[in-house]
Amino acid sequence: APVAAPDLDLCERSTVTSKSAGTIKVACCPPKLKDAIDFKPPSFSKIRYRPAAHLVDRHYLDKFTRAMELMKGLPEDDPRNFMQQANVHCAYCNGAYDNSALGIPNQELQVHFSWLFFPFHRLYLYFYERILGKLIDDPDFAMPFWNWDSPDGMLIPEIYVDPNSPLYDEKRNVNHQPPNMVDLDFAGEEEELSKSDLIKSNLSLMYRQMVRNRTATLFHGFAYRAGDKPSPGQGAIENNPHTAIHRWVGDQRQPYKEDMGNFYSAGRDPLFYAHHSNIDRLWNIWKSLPGKKRCDFPDTDWLDSSFLFYDENADLVRVKVRDALETTTLGYDYQRVDLPWLRYKP
Ligand code: C2O
Repeated sequence: APVAAPDLDLCERSTVTSKSAGTIKVACCPPKLKDAIDFKPPSFSKIRYRPAAHLVDRHYLDKFTRAMELMKGLPEDDPRNFMQQANVHCAYCNGAYDNSALGIPNQELQVHFSWLFFPFHRLYLYFYERILGKLIDDPDFAMPFWNWDSPDGMLIPEIYVDPNSPLYDEKRNVNHQPPNMVDLDFAGEEEELSKSDLIKSNLSLMYRQMVRNRTATLFHGFAYRAGDKPSPGQGAIENNPHTAIHRWVGDQRQPYKEDMGNFYSAGRDPLFYAHHSNIDRLWNIWKSLPGKKRCDFPDTDWLDSSFLFYDENADLVRVKVRDALETTTLGYDYQRVDLPWLRYKP
């Protein structure tokens, strides 16, 4: 059976663990304001295009920072508030919800390390973007993506590093600020690579992950159904570059590598949403590459798995994986940029 949307009334405190700092419990549950309604695909008059973060202009940046400021300024208990939105990730990823099924008690819900990874994050960002658009009264607003799969995008985008900007987060690795380049294979150890070798290594990693992993399971991750133990196995992209970048950005000085280095806190860094926008973009690109097997799962246990999110009107919405298959049904797409890794067959 499909993974059911969580019951907010049963939400519990999340568990955060690290070897050195031990285990803590964190309150991440969303407010339960009303009953959930079923998601209906939006109607829109034109597709909005998410731009590459390193290519945006002043006008766009003004709008985006204004929207983020407004989100941070919402009342604390408004489910659209910045911290509430960050806590959405914490609750879905650090064991606040239940995935038990008939006869199978005590299984926690986890949206990473399985086939739920891409659709969950797509929908999470979708509602985030709708909230931002609503706050600035611009339903066409599209959030930026961090284009780390291209040499010009392989550093933290400039718009995120101004300490006076609402896009800034001080809990980031101080040694990984621009002009330092991201290592898409980062596992905690600094590599002594020249800039050009690092670019080559990043591009060939992208080639391997995107081009070689041709089946839905290799790309998305393993099947995960109602009552299943969490984390059956992740897909290629979720592993690296996705997790590598979380680790690379997270602040080593913090006990749980906050913010980006831990699920519970990752959504507190505005960069998270640009990072995941690029992950989301790669899902679109993966399906467009040549090869017959590059399609999503036809399995209804996947398609009918569902999540709850608060939308731009603070309505609680139940949305299914099948609603997330094409970004163009959701009203958005991505700015076309070069895909240099396609030429990096190792
Ligand atoms: Cu839900 Cu990038 O983690």
